[in-house]
Amino acid sequence: MHVIGGTASTALAERVSRELGNAPFAIPFIKRFPDGEMYVRVGGRMEGDEVVIVQSTRTDSDLLELLLLEDAVREAGARRIMVVVPYFGYARQDRLFFPGEPVSARALCRHVELDADAVITVDLHSAQTLAHFTKPAFEASGIPAIARLLRERPTDVLVSPDRGGIERVRRMSQLLDKPWFALEKRRIDSEHVELSLPASDAVPVRGKQVVLVDDVITTGGTIVEASKLLKSEGAGAISAACTHGLFLRDAFERIKAVTDEVYSTDTLGNPAEKASVAPDIAAILRRQVPS
Ligand code: R5P
Repeated sequence: MHVIGGTASTALAERVSRELGNAPFAIPFIKRFPDGEMYVRVGGRMEGDEVVIVQSTRTDSDLLELLLLEDAVREAGARRIMVVVPYFGYARQDRLFFPGEPVSARALCRHVELDADAVITVDLHSAQTLAHFTKPAFEASGIPAIARLLRERPTDVLVSPDRGGIERVRRMSQLLDKPWFALEKRRIDSEHVELSLPASDAVPVRGKQVVLVDDVITTGGTIVEASKLLKSEGAGAISAACTHGLFLRDAFERIKAVTDEVYSTDTLGNPAEKASVAPDIAAILRRQVPS
């Protein structure tokens, strides 16, 4: 199996290749033509090879690079192409909110799978997105990676900032054998939320090491408000952990100011990247391509 790391996921791709027993790893050559168009080149022929391309699609340019890489790898003779998209951009528009809109998640699934034989991604915004792929598609979870990290750190209580994250925090609680609860969240606009303790089921946090668990941190609004609420309830220390750390603008600094630690996985490069999903991706790849 060969692993190719796109520019958005080079470090994670190398970790995946190590997890696959030091599978050959390559970084493609990428440049821009004078008119701004992208040029990509993968080294050598790949006749009959199983090739894994790892590329998060955080930006439109990342997405274009992925599509060009898939074509280049197919052209080089690969027998099977496994496309790993650790952070799958455009996944939030997963249904029609107003007439005339696209279902962006579906549109992206269709295009990303065009030259792929299988697609692997991590913690999609909504589980239904996987159903838009017509080729074999798999979703790894960022929770085991964060659990491996938290096992080394003091953790008393796990908190989801909203009810939508209950399955996630429940899974983490099973892995770490720690109590959990979910806050009530009301979104005011894309940057502001209101949070409150649940009417029942809240675990006391006074003096405790509390870890907030979320799938994605974007503007940081959710984690900042959740940390303030937990602090007002007397939490001893607060950490924030997420799979995808987008940290727009000054989100990371704002979160650092109200928490003790910030952790994310390596689906996106960021200053909180402390846990790797490489073992979880490699496990799926090994099941797809038994040696
Ligand atoms: C919400 O459904 C998600 O799980 C996150 O809580 C949310 O997307 C985080 O966004 P932000 O950092 O902008 O509050």
